[in-house]
Amino acid sequence: MNWRIKPLDEIIATAEKKSLKRSLGAFQLTMMGIGAIIGTGIFVLTAEAAQKAGPGMMVSFIVAGFVCAVAALCYAELSSMVPVSGSAYTYSYAVLGEAIAWMVGWALVLEFAVAASAVSVGWSNYFVGNIERMFDIELADTFTKGLYAGGLINLPAAVIAMLVTALLVVGTRESATVNAFLVLIKVAALVLFVVLAIPVINGENFEPFAPNGFFDSGGLGIGIAGAAASIFFAYVGFDAVATAAEETKNPQRNIPIGLIGSLAICTVFYLLVAAGAVGSIGAQPVSDASGIPLSPGSEAFFAACAQPANANLLACSDEPLAHVLDMIGWGKVAQLIALAAFLALPSVILMMLFGQTRIFFVMARDGLLPFNETLSKVHPKFGTPYVVTLITGAAVTIFAAFFPVGVLADISNSGTLFAFLTVAVGVMVLRRREPNRPRPFTTPAIWLVGPLAFAGCAFLLFSLPLRTQLTFMLWTGVGLLVYLAYGYRKSPLANR
Ligand code: ALA
Repeated sequence: MNWRIKPLDEIIATAEKKSLKRSLGAFQLTMMGIGAIIGTGIFVLTAEAAQKAGPGMMVSFIVAGFVCAVAALCYAELSSMVPVSGSAYTYSYAVLGEAIAWMVGWALVLEFAVAASAVSVGWSNYFVGNIERMFDIELADTFTKGLYAGGLINLPAAVIAMLVTALLVVGTRESATVNAFLVLIKVAALVLFVVLAIPVINGENFEPFAPNGFFDSGGLGIGIAGAAASIFFAYVGFDAVATAAEETKNPQRNIPIGLIGSLAICTVFYLLVAAGAVGSIGAQPVSDASGIPLSPGSEAFFAACAQPANANLLACSDEPLAHVLDMIGWGKVAQLIALAAFLALPSVILMMLFGQTRIFFVMARDGLLPFNETLSKVHPKFGTPYVVTLITGAAVTIFAAFFPVGVLADISNSGTLFAFLTVAVGVMVLRRREPNRPRPFTTPAIWLVGPLAFAGCAFLLFSLPLRTQLTFMLWTGVGLLVYLAYGYRKSPLANR
């Protein structure tokens, strides 16, 4: 095992040598954060949360939001001190050593790439819904849903993933104006939802509040804690802001504003949306014949949802926000919301893929990935790291084509939680080791916030379904092997 660290000053110097253009300001970063955060989580996984927790999903939203808030405070300190691309990966390299950094970078692949797949699948739900309503037709599940979700291949999800990859290769993210416009659409959709759903809240819809209890008992990730671990996905993305540090003007000031600002705005919306959804049409889960709640994403769950008696449940909806409005008599507005999701979700895929490619780019630049010369190639005309973008895009497309959205979101969460947990440790270690290094942004009450962030992430990690935890361990194991076989020997730090 290798604990060598890459000195902070050196990281900053490397970045200056082989760097990207600085063009982003605080407002753009906040918009970028909101652009990355509001997506499949709130528009689609609200149904999954209902299945796992029932009305208690409101508590799940609060728990997940709280964990993200304390993690964001830790992120902001490190990202202001080490304002270079690579986010948690880079911070860990500077603070906890190369082996841990490698594991974090590897986990971030799960976070961003698998999240991009999950959002593609979420987008596909709304795409299919819109098309079916517009032309009054029924599209076959075989080609619009993945395996395990009652279909064979999710073509819309695969196609959108490929399109977004192509956009990234030609450097589309430069258009902050388009992002701002899409953020506006998403926020307008959520405002409309809240304004229409909150007035028809009915107290009875909150009963029974926690049909599946708080803690998960069977390893299925069911219960309020399990729903929190899943709905955590809705908040993920604020850290995409940090991955753009090298492209930010005055990152010391602007990155913390972008991180914390975007998270705060989204949290308020989410809590209102959750209250509106639960209160207006209820959120009771589907159970099997003996009353045991079914695991979302399982075949039994899809079979139960196919029963006419369950068709109108929030938990069974592919487009939960549009569904709620439809149920409360706002069919036309529901269609608008579905259209908003259809238009805006691709930008989330773009952000996730963007974050992923930047992390690979930095890892390759550090010499830790095989074929790093090829991988860190920048396109002569577009100025984008096109090789990593194409490879990542291909993987994202395959996952999007075959897996259900909730399963992908959970896997993505496992990587994210691991990365956040490491950042929390990193901030505390650095406070001890280099107390006098300038900190443009200081996490308030670090000895409270740091441990809370650590414990919160660990708690959510353990509340994920067992199957997800095993996938995560397998992924980490493979990562360690790759590191030992390649990065460990080839790292420039090893060869001095
Ligand atoms: N938070 C992002 C979403 O919900 C990843 O789509």
